[in-house]
Amino acid sequence: MTSIELRTGDRLPSVGLGMWKVDKGAAAGLVSDAVDAGYRHLDCACDYGNEAEVGAGLKRVLSAGRCSREDLWVTSKLWNTYHAAEHVRPACERSLKDLGLDHLDLYLIHFPIPQKFVPFEERYPPEWFFDPNAASPKVELAPVPVSETWGAMEKLVEDGLVKNIGVCNFGTSLLRDLSYYARIQPAVLQVELHPYLTQSKLVRFCRETGIAVTGFSPLGAQSYFSLNMAEQDEAVLNNAVVTDIAAKHGRSAAQIALRWGVQRGTSVVPKTGRVERLRENLAIFDFELSADEMQAIDALDRGRRFNDPGHFAEGAFNTFLPIYE
Ligand SMILES: NC(=O)c1ccc[n+]([C@@H]2O[C@H](COP(=O)([O-])OP(=O)(O)OC[C@H]3O[C@@H](n4cnc5c(N)ncnc54)[C@H](OP(=O)(O)O)[C@@H]3O)[C@@H](O)[C@H]2O)c1
Repeated sequence: MTSIELRTGDRLPSVGLGMWKVDKGAAAGLVSDAVDAGYRHLDCACDYGNEAEVGAGLKRVLSAGRCSREDLWVTSKLWNTYHAAEHVRPACERSLKDLGLDHLDLYLIHFPIPQKFVPFEERYPPEWFFDPNAASPKVELAPVPVSETWGAMEKLVEDGLVKNIGVCNFGTSLLRDLSYYARIQPAVLQVELHPYLTQSKLVRFCRETGIAVTGFSPLGAQSYFSLNMAEQDEAVLNNAVVTDIAAKHGRSAAQIALRWGVQRGTSVVPKTGRVERLRENLAIFDFELSADEMQAIDALDRGRRFNDPGHFAEGAFNTFLPIYE
């Protein structure tokens, strides 16, 4: 597997396993199967509600010596309710405890959406509603500037809890502003990227400013059908350009979408709960897309963002929460 060198000199494996929507009951076994399949990069988050189970899987593979901690890349993410400076370290420590680790390779701000604090004892993970039992539950925001959260993230690096820090779901304006006050510049930006949302200007901006980019939901609509956040005819994996290229290479459409992501210089974190797909999604390093094929896939861009709080938060959480506009 290839890897991407970060500004710290650390190397982020180009393919990681996404842990969002992995059932608690299946997470430990999946981590174990993933390591056996060759994965060395796990994309976790407090909000996925399964870090303790991922930790059980990590303990299994590490204690059996099936891989070493040094060979593994573990990412986690700071949830929205913990943006205030005093909550960042406890949130990171909780993820570390659940994962059974003494450091994270990468810790990301999950969304530029600071929500009101919810104590661990009250609810963990807190998710989106401030009070799910309220008569009319809503997302409630807290006035915490990114600069405050970032300062506390930098402290995590200085204190040895995390090796690299970064952000998710930021655009160029927030990134530029962050660069003016950051003592430690962000190593990674994680955003939604697939052939229907190529974000080529954002990817270029990051390349030019030394920020490595990770694409989430690299298979496009696939993750969003079950959430009613995508229509059946929006499947990137059924797009004729993608399936034709797949047929030409004797590969699956998923492998083409992932190869395109890696070949344009980003890392990708596809999720699957199925062992055969673990292997399929990793088997993208023994072929190459031609320049014409890369361009044909680039040209599929429709600016279609499936994971948009400005849309889903209104329907699911009764709150208007635009962040990209
Ligand atoms: N930072 C953020 O805000 C953010 C947001 C969203 C996601 N993420 C991260 O990114 C990861 C990946 O994104 P995602 O889970 O939304 O979407 P994804 O990885 O693009 O797609 C996952 C979906 O595709 C299916 N799938 C996996 N491999 C396949 C294959 N080879 N052929 C056909 N279908 C396949 C999976 O089903 P099966 O499980 O049944 O195989 C699942 O339904 C997440 O798990 C999470 O770690 C981050």
